[in-house]
Amino acid sequence: MRISLDQAIARLKNGEVVAIPTETVYGLAADATNEAALRQIYALKQRPADNPLIVHIAEIEQIQLWAAEFPPVAQRLASAFWPGPLTLVLPAKDNVSTIVRAGEPTVALRIPSHPLALQLLKQSGLGLAAPSANKYTQLSPTTATHVETSLGADLSVLDGGACQVGIESTIVSVSGDDWQLLRHGMITEAEIADVAGVKEKKGFITPPKVPGQHLLHYSPKTPVKLFSGIESLMHYQQTSQLSCAVLLIGDVPQNVQANEPLIIQTVQLPKDHAIVAERLYSVLHQLDALNAGQLLVQLPPTAPEWLAILDRLTRASHYS
Ligand code: TXA
Ligand code: MG
Repeated sequence: MRISLDQAIARLKNGEVVAIPTETVYGLAADATNEAALRQIYALKQRPADNPLIVHIAEIEQIQLWAAEFPPVAQRLASAFWPGPLTLVLPAKDNVSTIVRAGEPTVALRIPSHPLALQLLKQSGLGLAAPSANKYTQLSPTTATHVETSLGADLSVLDGGACQVGIESTIVSVSGDDWQLLRHGMITEAEIADVAGVKEKKGFITPPKVPGQHLLHYSPKTPVKLFSGIESLMHYQQTSQLSCAVLLIGDVPQNVQANEPLIIQTVQLPKDHAIVAERLYSVLHQLDALNAGQLLVQLPPTAPEWLAILDRLTRASHYS
C-alpha cells in the first residue's frame, strides 16, 4: 500500500519495514539498529543471512555512528559523490548490529540523493538499512509498482516516482590508504580513482558472499540471451523456435520486427549509457511480463561507462 512520508517515518520508528525510493533503485528499508526489523528485511526478500545490507544516512557527520575509521581516501570520495550513487564499505564500529553487516567486520554506508529519501532520513534521524526491494536474485525495482509486483501489495511503499539513475550504487571498500571496487555502478572506476588519488589495490579484501556478486542475479523469469550484432540476432531467430522479446541498444540497421513472427515485442534504447541505465530494469520488467520463450538483449558497447550495464546484463543472462 502506498503511504505518506509521515506514515513512513512513523512505521520505520515503530520497527516496521517500508519500501523507499532512492535515485538508484527502490530499497526495502528498516531501522538499522532494530534487529527484529532487520530480520524482517531478510525474511521478506528471502535473502540469505550472510549477505550484508547497506545503511543509508542523511549527513556525513553520521559516519562516526557506524564506521570505526573514516580514512582520507573515503573522505574525499564521500565529499565528491555524496549525496549520490556511491556506497562506501568501511571498518564497522563494534556496536553496529551483526545482522546488518552479516557478521562482517565492515559496514556499507551511503547518502542517497533522492529528495524524498533524504527528507525521510533527515526527519526520522534513523540510519536505514535497505537492500534493493525485490526478492533475492530477481530484477531490481525502479518504480513503486515493481516493488509491489515482487514483494506484494500489502507492503508499505513510499512512492517517489521512477528512479533516475536506475542501476544500483557503485560499491567501494576503503581501509587505510587502500581502496577496491566491489560493484560497478554509474560512478565509474576511473572517476573513483581520480578522486581517491591513489591506485586501486585489487584483492586487498575478500568480499563476503554477496548477492551483487552472486552470478545469478538481477534475473528476469524469462531466460536472457545476449547478442552482439544484428547477424547473431537473426541467427538466434533462424535456429530457435521460441517466441522472443528483444531489447536493442543503439542503432540497428533495419527494423527487426518486420517479417519476424516469433518476435512479440522490440524495445530500442539509444546508445547513451545514462539513459540505458535509467530505463534498463523498467524495460526488462516490461519484456519479462510478456512471458516470451526468451529475452534477447543486445550487448552494450565495451567502453568503461558501460561496464555497470554490462555487469547487470551478464548476470541476468547467467544460466540461460
Ligand atoms: O543503490 C543501491 O546500492 C541500492 C539502494 C537501495 O541503495 N541498494 C542495493 O542493496 O543495491 P543490495 O543489498 O541489493 O546490494 C548491496 C550490496 C550487496 O552486494 C551486499 O552484499 C554489499 O552491498 N554489501 C553490503 N555490506 C557490505 C560489506 N560490509 N562488505 C561488502 N559488501 C557489502
Ligand atoms: Mg539487490
